[in-house]
Order: sequence, then C-alpha cells, then structure tokens
Amino acid sequence: MKKILTYGTYDLLHYGHINLLQRAKAMGDYLIVGLSTDEFNSMKGKKCYFSYNERKKMLEALRCVDLVIEENCWEQKISDVKEFKVDTFVMGDDWKGKFDFLKDYCEVVYLPRTPEISTTQIKKDLGEKKN
Ligand code: CTP
Repeated sequence: MKKILTYGTYDLLHYGHINLLQRAKAMGDYLIVGLSTDEFNSMKGKKCYFSYNERKKMLEALRCVDLVIEENCWEQKISDVKEFKVDTFVMGDDWKGKFDFLKDYCEVVYLPRTPEISTTQIKKDLGEKKN
C-alpha cells in the first residue's frame, strides 16, 4: 500500500484544497493529512475561522482523506514519515524546495496550486463585501 502525507491548515475548505487532496490521493492508496492545530497556527501568526476539531471533521468527511493527524510543530515531519511509513510527501508548489530535506526518507512532490483561490483571498473578499 502506497502512503501519501501532506500538511496544511485547511481553514474555510475550498476547491483549491480539494484539488490538492484529490491529486495527492491519486498518487497512492492512503492519504494522511497533518492538520495544523490552533496552537501551531497561533505560533505561525495564523488565525482560523474554524477550530481544529471543525476543520478535522470536514477533512474526514472527504472520500479522498483516510486519516487526519495533528500538526503541532515544524519539526515533526521526519518522525511522521517514519512512524506512518510514508512513501510520498506532497505539498502545493507555494512550498517548492522547502521540504527537500525529506528526500532522505521518502519521495517529495510539489503539485501546482490551483490558481486564484486561497483562504486568505476568501477572507479578504468577504470582508470587502461586508463594507
Ligand atoms: N493549495 C492549493 N491551491 C490553492 C490553495 C491551497 O494547492 N489554491 C494547497 C496548498 O499548497 C497546501 C494545501 O492546499 O498544500 C493547504 O493549504 P493552506 O495553506 O491550508 O490553504 P490556503 O488557501 O493557501 O490558505 P492561506 O491563504 O491561509 O495560506
């Protein structure tokens, strides 16, 4: 069984996220998502609309997602790859090159981002519509 691992915040789940997750799943048989906890988001200076448990529930409802685990810090990736016996690590290409150190442990793939959609953009657009 080929296992795929990806990480992210996945707030205000949108079609760019779905595209990424479906393409990641299509690369193997079992997709694990490391979902940033609320505490980790605070460390990154990110504030989510939905809580960790709400974001986790939405990801678990997707057919392409097999398991959601906590992403608590930047340093956990190597141990996650080892613990879950991951074959391929996947991220959107906004992260290109950033996780190449994982190549010692598994395949590393950066997929092209879906253009013109992001959580940040949705928040901005909704904010503008409110005024
Ligand atoms: N992603 C993508 N295409 C998009 C938006 C996100 O492929 N249009 C991918 C990212 O590259 C990442 C994953 O989805 O691998 C989760 O990204 P996340 O940062 O949670 O979503 P964004 O919409 O980029 O959120 P933000 O604007 O807060 O950075």
